[in-house]
Amino acid sequence: MHVPVLREEVLQFLEPEASEVIVDATLGGGGHAEAIADRIGEAGLLIGIDQDGDAIRRAEAKLEGRKNVIIRRCNFRQFDEVLNEVGIGKVHKFLFDLGVSRDQLDEGARGFSFLREGPLDMRMDQRTGERAADLVNTLPEEELRHIFFRFGEERYAGKIAARIVRMRREKSFEFTREFADVISAGVPRTGRIHPATKVFQALRIAVNRELEALEEGLNKAIRYLIPGGRVVVLSYHSLEDRIVKQMFRRESQAGRIRILTKKVVCPTAGEIAENPSSRSAKLRAAEKIA
Ligand SMILES: C[S@@+](CC[C@H](N)C(=O)[O-])C[C@H]1O[C@@H](n2cnc3c(N)ncnc32)[C@H](O)[C@@H]1O
Repeated sequence: MHVPVLREEVLQFLEPEASEVIVDATLGGGGHAEAIADRIGEAGLLIGIDQDGDAIRRAEAKLEGRKNVIIRRCNFRQFDEVLNEVGIGKVHKFLFDLGVSRDQLDEGARGFSFLREGPLDMRMDQRTGERAADLVNTLPEEELRHIFFRFGEERYAGKIAARIVRMRREKSFEFTREFADVISAGVPRTGRIHPATKVFQALRIAVNRELEALEEGLNKAIRYLIPGGRVVVLSYHSLEDRIVKQMFRRESQAGRIRILTKKVVCPTAGEIAENPSSRSAKLRAAEKIA
């Protein structure tokens, strides 16, 4: 089960209060959502969004019977369509807990992890878009290199892309483990991290267009906030965190928001020991200015 990261800190910065309308843009297992729904009471409304059908089912089971929760499956870059549908024009608070959940990583059939055998898929929304295998088997070498370098900050991006293109002439890649083995065999092992780590991260970001979704979703969220409303973002790698930091800086210079986290908030050593998946989390929060 996915354990909500920085749960207390999220509540501290979000400050959910009775009767508020709060959008949880990344419902996942519904851990943060449950805590928020408890605080906003019967007169409040929590709108929970996720693009993953399995996450939606898990969250629906967890939040079943709560009258103050509406759950919709969509990409958070289109959350405004959900708000239109339910007749909401302004929002008090937004939460974005980015990336994938432990539940998604642990399910081999989703293809997110090189530690589990499964199809090389990695789509958060399985109804649409290209799978990681489609990218790996069809993109030109230069585009693969670019993806590994830009989204994985992988120093051997060129070497790995060339090896993939050479090997796929014999046989296309379909499974996580065989793909990870091919990467491992082609680059020197440096440090403790698995050689396929950055390539898997890069492919996941490319498959789900994660950085574009974040830019669009967060930008829109700031526009939908009421004055005094808040947005809290948890990110898990430097590319995401940079987007959040730069957007907050821009919006604050334009006088639209006030940054609440002058210093980024990270999990304590205790939280990391209990939940190692939290180790790279960074929390940033901002408040809309009247
Ligand atoms: C880290 S998990 C959230 C965990 C959640 N806060 C909890 O307490 O269980 C991230 C979730 O966001 C979803 N997600 C990521 N990007 C998304 C996007 N652009 N639109 C909708 N859902 C997205 C993923 O499918 C995943 O379920």
